[in-house]
Amino acid sequence: MRWILLLLVPGLATAQFNNELLIPPTLTGAEFSLTIDESTKQFYDGQTTETIGFNGNFLGPTLIFNKGDFISIEVDNNLNEETTVHWHGMHVSPEDDGGPHTVIAPNTTWNPDFTVLDRATTFWYHPHLHERTNRHVTKGAAGMIIIRSDDESALTLPRTYGEDDFPLIVQAKSFDNDNQLDERGDDNVFMVNGTLEPYLDVPGQMVRFRVLNGSNERVLYLGFNDDRQFMQIGSDGGLLESPVSMNRLRLASGERAELVVDFSGDIGSNLELLTYASELGGGIPGGPVGGGGGGMNGLDGQDVSFMEFRVGAATGNAVTSISQNLATHEPWDESEANNTRTISMDGGGPGNPFSLNDGIFDDNVINETVFLDDIEVWTITNTTNIAHPFHIHDIQFYILDIDGQAPPMNERGLKDVVLVEGNQTVRFITKFEDFADPEVPYMYHCHILPHEDGGMMGQFLVIEGEEEVLGLKELRNSYRVYPNPVSDKIVRVLVPQGMNASKDMEFKMFDLSGKLVPAISSKVCGPDNLMILYLSEFYTGIYNLVITSEGKSVASLKVMIE
Ligand code: C2O
Ligand code: CU
Ligand code: CU
Repeated sequence: MRWILLLLVPGLATAQFNNELLIPPTLTGAEFSLTIDESTKQFYDGQTTETIGFNGNFLGPTLIFNKGDFISIEVDNNLNEETTVHWHGMHVSPEDDGGPHTVIAPNTTWNPDFTVLDRATTFWYHPHLHERTNRHVTKGAAGMIIIRSDDESALTLPRTYGEDDFPLIVQAKSFDNDNQLDERGDDNVFMVNGTLEPYLDVPGQMVRFRVLNGSNERVLYLGFNDDRQFMQIGSDGGLLESPVSMNRLRLASGERAELVVDFSGDIGSNLELLTYASELGGGIPGGPVGGGGGGMNGLDGQDVSFMEFRVGAATGNAVTSISQNLATHEPWDESEANNTRTISMDGGGPGNPFSLNDGIFDDNVINETVFLDDIEVWTITNTTNIAHPFHIHDIQFYILDIDGQAPPMNERGLKDVVLVEGNQTVRFITKFEDFADPEVPYMYHCHILPHEDGGMMGQFLVIEGEEEVLGLKELRNSYRVYPNPVSDKIVRVLVPQGMNASKDMEFKMFDLSGKLVPAISSKVCGPDNLMILYLSEFYTGIYNLVITSEGKSVASLKVMIE
């Protein structure tokens, strides 16, 4: 059955679309309730498929949030195992973010609540438990989030859900011979909103699509069978400055785009949506040569028609032309940046997982520490031969350049995923605002789910205090612990000007009887000769901190922890 579909691909006109596209129901208001549970779904004749869904057997309801609202979400975990639920794209505190640290035990409830701060856009939600993300998402646990705002509502745009504004969660999936979903990713079919071979009745007018690439690794290269132009109006984090016209859209795993397609001249005809994978460059997962992590498979490099639009009469209230000024963007200037960081994408090759900065994810290591309200430039350098979509939690960013070139028009808005091609360098700028937490980190990772689960992920803390710590210029001729007493699990040590605060510096804590206390779990070089030491737990009391540099002990400081 599935192989027949593949064989039909070269003759696109013969693709069959027999199933009406499922449109997920919506949840609105201030209180939301999601239950994640195991279930089954009949995708093919014969054996049913084991699935995981939210409030149903596959995917989940579309959550509609209004900017400025204070909302509360109850997430019940009815699985027989732990999971987490992450609001991908949302600017929320680390505790409400649903990353790998916010585990929901089986048969328990997690109840995040927060104010919606983001611009009007399309986000999504999905489990994020380390090493299980791929399996949970592959089995169906994912859903869409729509943020509405007064600004967006004032524009002329289609926005009636299920009428002229449709969610399209596009996923490449792999079914095994027993009709079970296989997370190892030898994809053999596409589905949209959990519907195989879908068709959608659309009105003959301007229609908005919120497209999410919810595949576990495959990059999509979307276009219509008649090669028509369509408009992209929004990227991951909100509306673009103005619509961008195109006939192809590249969308990596985890990325979203809002599109407007004009069907007004198509009443009575059918159109197809394809991924033109043959036109993707080499090294791009799903493209012609050496696709994703698992090497070539049947869909790589194939142009596949995966959905049909059947165009009917226009609605009474059709939008006939859309606003041209959609949003304002004032990206921070590089000269405003307080700090820069470099992340290299590396690893890969036989028996070697992909990694970031040559390390695979370690729960006990804080990879980066950011000061609240800092503007930073991150340089992501892909040293591997395949493309990886880089994703970061907490913030939206602006791409500064891609291999030194300004990004294409449709990537000049807010982003939280950027595809970094093999041997390419992408720089972005962002500001880490509103949320600091000395304990719970945010994540950054490759959004190819098997890579993320394999450890191509890091974590960062956003902490307060740069102003106080770095402002004390008069203290900068000696080693200092500041602030002292210490009231969290972080000891900040000022290193005198002229000394090199480096990872070679050693720090040891002794109690007052002279016994070594194994309290320091990791250390990070902060900006401007600041060393940041992380304690594995609260060691209250008074300690001696002995600092060694190049084998010589250079200071012994009293630290009070309360
Ligand atoms: Cu879509 Cu860290 O997640
Ligand atoms: Cu995310
Ligand atoms: Cu990757």
